[in-house]
Parts: sequence; structure tokens; C-alpha cells
Amino acid sequence: MAFPPQFLDELRLRLPLAGIVGRRVKLTRKGREQQGLCPFHNEKTPSFTVNEEKGFFHCFGCGAHGDAIGFEMRANHLSFTEAVEKLAAECGMEVPKATLQERQQEARRASLHDVMEAACRFFETQLRAGAGREGLAYLRGRGLTEETIARFRLGWAPDSRQALKTALMSEAVPESLLIEAGLLKKPDGDGDRASFDFFRGRVMFPVADRRGRVIAFGARTLGDGQPKYLNSPDTPLFHKGSTLYGLAHARETAREKGTVLAVEGYMDVIALHQAGFAFAVAPLGTALTEAQIEEMWRLADEPTLCFDGDNAGQRAMSRAAERALPILKPGKSLRFALLPHPEDPDSLIKAKGAAAMQSVLDQARPLFDVAWDVTAAGRPVDTPERRAALEKDLKDKAFAIADETVRWQYLSAFRERLRDLLRPRSAFPGPGMGRRGEFRRRPGDPPLRAADGRLPGAGKPRPPAGDSDPLWLRSCEAQLLALLLLHPPLLDQICEPLGETGFSDNALDNLRRGILKHLHTVHDLDSEVFCDHLRADGLAPVLDRLQDTDEYRIGRPETIIEARQHWDRLFKRYAWKRGLANDIGQAAEKLGQDMSTRTFDRFAALKQVGSGIAEDKDDDDNGPGF
Ligand code: UTP
Ligand code: MN
Repeated sequence: MAFPPQFLDELRLRLPLAGIVGRRVKLTRKGREQQGLCPFHNEKTPSFTVNEEKGFFHCFGCGAHGDAIGFEMRANHLSFTEAVEKLAAECGMEVPKATLQERQQEARRASLHDVMEAACRFFETQLRAGAGREGLAYLRGRGLTEETIARFRLGWAPDSRQALKTALMSEAVPESLLIEAGLLKKPDGDGDRASFDFFRGRVMFPVADRRGRVIAFGARTLGDGQPKYLNSPDTPLFHKGSTLYGLAHARETAREKGTVLAVEGYMDVIALHQAGFAFAVAPLGTALTEAQIEEMWRLADEPTLCFDGDNAGQRAMSRAAERALPILKPGKSLRFALLPHPEDPDSLIKAKGAAAMQSVLDQARPLFDVAWDVTAAGRPVDTPERRAALEKDLKDKAFAIADETVRWQYLSAFRERLRDLLRPRSAFPGPGMGRRGEFRRRPGDPPLRAADGRLPGAGKPRPPAGDSDPLWLRSCEAQLLALLLLHPPLLDQICEPLGETGFSDNALDNLRRGILKHLHTVHDLDSEVFCDHLRADGLAPVLDRLQDTDEYRIGRPETIIEARQHWDRLFKRYAWKRGLANDIGQAAEKLGQDMSTRTFDRFAALKQVGSGIAEDKDDDDNGPGF
């Protein structure tokens, strides 16, 4: 039942958000907001904030976000209607009575439910009587146990145009209701011809709503007849696109395990449940709709979608990933599992057992990886134009995401992965890097880039992604010092900015300070003697490390004038980047204090500028000035 908007507005006004949250979370005041430990994920330091003024809560840890009604829904696993009714009762508001028309519709739906229930019982009985035994033998032949057959209420529709009609009308069910329920069919055009049973000579799979009430049927032929499955038409109870087969059975386990699995067919759901995967559901012969994905998100944050491993299956997987992008929300995503072709879950379990199915699930990949592959796998990236095209396509993908926060995370994760793949090149060695600045390769790692310049194909493991900004800074710092070691008199000219700028890398910062100590003696020292002095000062290890890098050896300006030009150019970019890093830090802090579109936009804009600079560097072949 829909609530009138004025009623909801009034209710929201009256709800004390902090009070409602306070029943579950110990809140302490922090400026305009109150903070506590998030009740929706495990944490030790509070990232859950309540802004009473705006009427919203937000968790910076898990992304949970909403108003008082949303909090009540999450905290107590209630539907919207249930939460509204509970909260209205608590603050003494009367829930508006349904209009007369609504109440009539409600009554009609109630009787349709009764009709579907009666039909389901009829089909169940028929499975154990006469011709129905053929259906029962078929189901047993496919490995279903008595318990499973009873649990899923499988049945049999007799091969007759009148069997169900006669049985139900003798229980005083009006013909019009049977037609509305999709159980009887009235021949088109001719009003005089009699209605007849829609399902005939088939095994019946009742389709239930979330609460387990039968709302439709799928009906399978025993032979090779077409169609293999006949499904109920849409009715006031049944909307194919927002129903999931098996949902009522899967709900509890899915919530408990925090996982839900979408497969293709009725038989797959049933076989999975029987094999212990009691969190499986299926759409009804179509690709998953947004409504169905949203429904699964009510049970688990990252439902797994299961596809056949052949090309068609992989295409379907790509399409599903693209369809999900616009509706992603913080914390809500999908995972994708591929079955060994040509199995479906039912046949896989039968052939190889539950362990084989489990291993398919264990190998499920996150939506982000699939979205990356859809755009990037196998693409040549050997020219700037091709790289730009890839970057643009990745951006377009990310911009399909409606949620601002998720969109930004995708943009930044795409950028990072792009950087990883396009630049297995030098930087001052740091964590995760080899001495020469290459990624430290582990046995079994795929080539970073194939000989033809293509990115590695779908699904392969990659070198660990990291934030490359610290690396960029370090590399820059190494180059700045390298110039000084090469032309010690340069120190005289640049001592001020160098003295004011602490380096981000500790070892390099020690060297920086060590160099500054020689400020008054360097004018007449040459490079080698200067370095010997530094070694004598105990700086040999960092000096060796530095002199062993590309930053040191590549591009050694001959004259001090050239060196000075390099130094200036380099330092300008370095200082900008450092300042930006600070600005970003501050913007992040502000964002933490006041989550508004304005603070977020500032933060996002700075981050974008930041990654832009890191990429500038990639365009100059070996880094700035060299
Ligand atoms: P499948 O052809 O994979 O069927 O269709 P299945 O579920 O594995 O069934 P078995 O193992 O052959 O008995 C997948 C789903 O597509 C819909 C049904 O929902 C089916 O479960 N479908 C298929 C139809 O609606 N009509 C059809 O004719 C075929
Ligand atoms: Mn099958």
C-alpha cells in the first residue's frame, strides 16, 4: 500500500533520528553531528554519524546511509511499509486508511491468492494420482528427493481442458477469478467459446512471492515438445520482471550466510537447494532486471550471478555487468561466476558433486573486474591515441553509475588499474618495487603487457595495485637529489626551497638534510668528493641505493645551467603535487566533518587533478626533466 506523501513528510518531521538510532548505538556529540560505532558492520573506531538537522545517518566505513525509516528497515530487517507502520505507532500517528478502491483491490488480490493456493494443492495431489505418476517418475528420474518435491510443492497438470476448471469451480471459485489468475484461458475474439485449462500435461513448478504465497506457475513438458516451459501470464499478483523463483525458500539462508546466488532455471534452483546451496534463486526465463537485483540486495550486499562458461554465457555476463552499473550503491555490488561449459548448476552437481559447484562460486569475480575486462581486455594500448581511447571508454563506463560515491570510486579504481598496466617503468625503489624499479615479479605472474602491446586477457591475476602517488613523489625526490650530487654548486642556488621542503621518503629526507649541512662548503667540491663526504657522514646506504636507480643514471645534464633548469622544472611540479596532497588531505577531513555535495565535489576535483599530474609524468618518457 502506498502512503500519501504528506503523511510521510509529517512522520519524518516527528521522528527523532538520534533517539531512534540511540536505541542501538551509543552516540557522542561531535560538533553538529553525533558519532558512534556503526551497527551495520564491524568496527572499533566510530565512523557512523548522525546529522539530526538533516535527518540523515551515514557510515563512512560501510556506506550505510538513510533517514529514520531507512535505519529502522536496516536495523530490524523490515520492509518500508512495516517500518513506517512501526514508527507511526511509536510517535502516535494514525496510518491513513486505504481508500475504498484500494481496499477493493486488496480484497480481489486476497481472493486471487486463495485461488492460486487451491490450484497449487490441486496440482500437488494430481502428481500422486493416475497419469500424474508419470510426472513424479520424471522428477525422481532427475534426482529429486521426496522431500525436495514436497518442499517446492511440485505438481502435475492433467492433460485435459477441464480438469482444473471443474475441480476449482466445484469449490465455488468464480470462473472470472480463474481467468484473472491466468489458470484458465478464454479463446481470443469469440466471447461464446468456453474457457479451458491453460496448463495441460505438464510438471508444475509453483512460483511464490517473497512471503511464500503462490503467485504463478512454470510448467515443463516431459518430452521434447515446445515450449519446454510454459509460464503464467502476468496477473495482478505476478509480475515476471520483479519475481525471483525460489526467493521465499532462499531468504533465510541468504540472510544468514550473507550471500545469494542467481542461476538460470527452475531445475537449477531446486538442485542447488537440494545440494545444500539453499540461497539460490532464478529469474523467470529472462535476464535479471533491476528490480530483481534490488530484491537480492535486500538479502546480501554482493549477490553472485552464475553464467555458462561459453561465449554466449560470457556475453550475458558482460551485459548483466553493464546493466548493474547504473544502480550500484555504496556497499552494493555483484559477483560473477562462470560454469564449465556446457553444464548448468543442476547438471554440474549431478556430474561432479557439490564441491565442483562450490569451487565455481569460490572463483566468482567482482563486478569491477568484469567491467574492466568488458572495456579493456585484449585492447591494444601501444599508442597514445589507443591509450586515450581506452581511458575514455573507461570513463564512460564509470559515468554510467548514478551514485556519486560509487562513480567516483570506479573512476579512481579504473585510473589506478590503467596506470598499473601502462607503466611497468622506473621509480625510486619502494615497497613492492624491485631495485631497478620494475614490479617485483612473482612466479606465475602474467606478463604485464604482451609483446604485441595488448593488455592481458580476461580473468588473469594482476600485479598488486597500489597508490602510485607516493611512488611518483619518491621518484621526484630522488631526481632532485641526484641533480645536486651531480652538480654540488647547485645547492647554493636552491638551498632555500630545499631547506623548506621535507621529503616524503624518510631515507631520502635524511640525505636531503645531510646535503644541506654542506651548504657552505660545496662551491668548490666536485661530485665524487661531495659524495665521499656524505658517505663519511653515514649516508652511504641511501646514497648507494639512489645511485643504483634509473633516476640517478639516466639523463645527466652536463652544465650547471642545464641542471638548474631541470631542477626548477622538476621542483615546480613536485611542490604542486605535494601541496595538492595536503589539500586533498584537508578536503577529506572537511568531507568527514560535513558530508555535503560541495565538500564532496571539492574533494573529488582535487583527487582528479592529482591523478592527472601523475599521468603527465607518464607522457614524458622517463619522468620530468630527463
Ligand atoms: P533452461 O532451458 O536452462 O531450463 O531454461 P532448465 O531450468 O535447465 O530446465 P531443464 O533442466 O531443461 O529441465 C532456463 C529457464 O528459462 C525459462 C525457465 O524459467 C527455465 O527454468 N524457460 C526456458 C522458459 O520460460 N521457457 C522455455 O521454453 C525454456
Ligand atoms: Mn537444466
